[in-house]
Amino acid sequence: MNNFQYYNPVRIVFGEGQIEQLSDLVPTDARVLITYGGGSAQRTGTLDEVKDALSASGNRTVFEFGGIEPNPEFVTLLKAADMVNEHNIDFLLAVGGGSVIDGSKFVALVASLTEEDGTVSRDQAWDALTSYCRNIDSAVDLGAVLTIPATGSEMNSGGVVNYSERQAKLPFGNPLAFPKFSILDPTKTLTLPERQVMNGVADAFVHVMEQYLTYPVNAKVQDAFAESLLKILIEEGPAVKKDPENMETRKNIMWTATMALNGLIGTGVPQDWTTHMVGHELTSLHAIDHARTLTIVLPSVMRELKESKKEKLLQYARNVWNLTDTDQDDDTIIETAIVNTENFFRELGLPVSLEDVDLDNAAIDPIIKQLEAHNMVKLGEHGKNDLDVSRRILDRAV
Ligand code: NZQ
Ligand code: ZN
Repeated sequence: MNNFQYYNPVRIVFGEGQIEQLSDLVPTDARVLITYGGGSAQRTGTLDEVKDALSASGNRTVFEFGGIEPNPEFVTLLKAADMVNEHNIDFLLAVGGGSVIDGSKFVALVASLTEEDGTVSRDQAWDALTSYCRNIDSAVDLGAVLTIPATGSEMNSGGVVNYSERQAKLPFGNPLAFPKFSILDPTKTLTLPERQVMNGVADAFVHVMEQYLTYPVNAKVQDAFAESLLKILIEEGPAVKKDPENMETRKNIMWTATMALNGLIGTGVPQDWTTHMVGHELTSLHAIDHARTLTIVLPSVMRELKESKKEKLLQYARNVWNLTDTDQDDDTIIETAIVNTENFFRELGLPVSLEDVDLDNAAIDPIIKQLEAHNMVKLGEHGKNDLDVSRRILDRAV
């Protein structure tokens, strides 16, 4: 196991009816900007529930900013950042999924990057994003009300921002972006379309794989925890498809997705993230849901990098898929585990090839070009996945 420091200050408030805790969690005299997406927060009544909780005590001043897109747009977020400055906002409350929470983290980080006229500087904010926002030393406080279990953004300090004009979808991360708290009320996920529920299960699954399917460093805690999270998703994904009203299943999926990317299973171990970086370019170029880009790319990453990932692929086959038949050779065991993974994604109605989303190998060159433009040229746990490797991965995914 490698040396590490693990720090995660996020208070998680889990369970049905917990939105009312906002009256204790948000400072009583706060000037709050509630941020949300394209309409689900209003339609589901969650936004009203949040506003009622904020007005139940104290003398908070509350503003709203709606319209944060799935794959949140840079330009939209700068408008929210201007609102932060215009109204002296000192607390951001994100109500939504990864897009709203990520977008609000970015707003919290860039609001102080203003021009003389007080508006947030587009150039400074873009420079910040292209350097991962790591050099920003102040941020507006942020809390979250999660409405879709998927990304783990509710309990981490990272995010991803889309800048369509520049055909860029870039990750960022800064400890100042940890939410002070996140409320996880599983009943809020009942209004999700099946597509989004399945996306969430797949995104969480691939988060675990990015931090697990690398090479062994004898990290028994992280490996056992990761394998358990994978097995829970393999069980609960089909279960929630069959019985969407089952609250126990909803609770376990919600908590698994949070645990999949709150840093715990990734601490002290090598991490890959090739699947995600290639996936981001697919979303940016073809507006494919984030999770669906991952289910297309992961199986090909597993096949193309089979040699360097061999030991963990065999461990994955044994401990997650129970492939313990010793008289089979390693290649057969590994291929069976990869096929099982593809079948799991298919069972959830998710694509496993570019063809499944009506793309063919003509899509590959533009993706390679974008990877190069975004300096995604040394990906993976060994930093060796260059553009040729990414091209071979995509060739396999056609
Ligand atoms: O926009 P609204 O109207 O709210 O609708 C949303 C959106 O259309 C809808 N939705 C959310 N909660 C709902 C609901 N509909 C009905 N009932 C509810 N309770 O679902 C759609 C998708 O929402 P979104 O927030 O985009 O989904 P998700 O949580 O999967 O977030 C995806 C974004 O997170 C980023 C992705 O790149 C993508 O931009 N990621 C963030 C990460 C992080 N911070 O650690 C890591 C991930 O790998 C990922 O990259
Ligand atoms: Zn993801």
